[in-house]
This record gives sequence, structure tokens and C-alpha cells, in this order.
Amino acid sequence: MNPVIDALKFRHACKKFDPQKKIAGPELDIILEGARLSPTSFGMEAWKFLVVVSDDIRQALRPACWDQPQVTDSSHLVVILARPSLIDPSNDYVKSSFLRRELSEDITQAYIKKYKWHMEKEVFSRMNAYAWCSKQCYIALANMMTTAASMGIDSCPMEGFEKDRVEALLEIDTRAFEVAVLVAFGYREGEPSVRRRYSLGQLVEFR
Ligand SMILES: Cc1cc2nc3c(=O)[nH]c(=O)nc-3n(C[C@H](O)[C@H](O)[C@H](O)COP(=O)(O)O)c2cc1C
Repeated sequence: MNPVIDALKFRHACKKFDPQKKIAGPELDIILEGARLSPTSFGMEAWKFLVVVSDDIRQALRPACWDQPQVTDSSHLVVILARPSLIDPSNDYVKSSFLRRELSEDITQAYIKKYKWHMEKEVFSRMNAYAWCSKQCYIALANMMTTAASMGIDSCPMEGFEKDRVEALLEIDTRAFEVAVLVAFGYREGEPSVRRRYSLGQLVEFR
């Protein structure tokens, strides 16, 4: 029907991974490329992708992640880190981020002004920097899962974890990074349960 819809139909939140089946390096790189190419608001890219390859670290993480078997049995566990410290309008990172566009100084300054206005008026009045960065991280999360699915690779997004414990176990410098969400990749063992979704008629409205 459509290759993206096919991948979306293949994807499910995999509860049981085959611990013996590992994702090959080139395919993992493609999944990470799906993250890298993801959009972010104002192009801030205030994120980082931590691929946990150590079995010891994954064993240690599992109790902090509701003892979910995906943490240890998947092929790869990716921790998506938000970088809320970067996005303050006064941070040099914001200016350097706009400078990458190679626009004139006037237009660059106009972008920074617009960004500052938007962040102060619309964003920080409603949420903190961690929440805003995490929203962007979830776009990368979705794209990674769809990219994986397009190659027949399963995934499980995971919010079921204790943030402080996971950050401590991973020795994250929380002045710079905070865990947004985890995602496990690998190959399913057994068949997934039936997918439940509301119909388009229930979810979509045209005006
Ligand atoms: C952000 C997010 C966090 C989730 N956290 C978990 C989790 O910690 N453990 C888990 O087994 N499933 C988790 N899920 C999977 C959902 O429960 C699942 O996507 C939903 O029930 C729909 O099922 P499907 O993805 O198989 O279609 C999460 C999904 C999302 C999008």
C-alpha cells in the first residue's frame, strides 16, 4: 500500500525480544541516522543518543526500569537524552545554532529575537526546558522506530523507568543532559498481541 504505512503496521511495542538475535552494525547506523535526520523546533538539536552496549550496565538498569525484560533482552538499548541547558535564549549555543544557517547578521539576529520571544512567551510559560526538549526527543524516538521497522527490526519505547536512578546509573551529568525516554531495539520472540486503535472517524475532524 505504502512503505511507511507498511513499516508502521509492522511496528509494535515489543515486549519479548529474542536475546540471541543482534542487530548488525550497518542497520544500527541506519536507525541512528533516522534520529539524526529528525526535525527539531528552530533546528535546535538539543539532544544526544546514548547506545548502551554493556550487558553489565543493562543488567544494572533493569531494576530502575520497572524490571522490564526489554532492557536486558533486546539487541540494543538507546537512551535519548535531552539537553535543556543549551536552549536558553541567552546561551551561545542558540546563536551558533542559527549561525549554521549562514544567513546575514541581520537575519540571524532577527531569528534569535523571534526565538527568544517565542520561548519566553509560549514555551517557558507552559513548560520547562526539559519538557520542551523531550518533546523534540520523541520525534527522534518515532523516526528511529519507523526506520527500524522498515528493516524488519522491532522496538519498544519505554517511559517506564525511574529517571533519577537511570541518570545516576549511567553517570549522566544532569547539569548538561537529562534522560527523556528509552527505546529498545531487536527482534521479536513470538507474535505480538492484537493492535488496538480508534478509527480515523473517531480521531480526525475536518473543518
Ligand atoms: C512514550 C511511550 C512510552 C512507552 N513506555 C512503555 C514502557 O515503558 N513499557 C512498555 O512495555 N511499553 C511502553 N510503551 C508502549 C505502549 O504501551 C504501546 O505503544 C501502546 O500500548 C500501543 O501498542 P503498540 O505500540 O503495540 O501498537 C510506550 C509507548 C510510548 C509511545
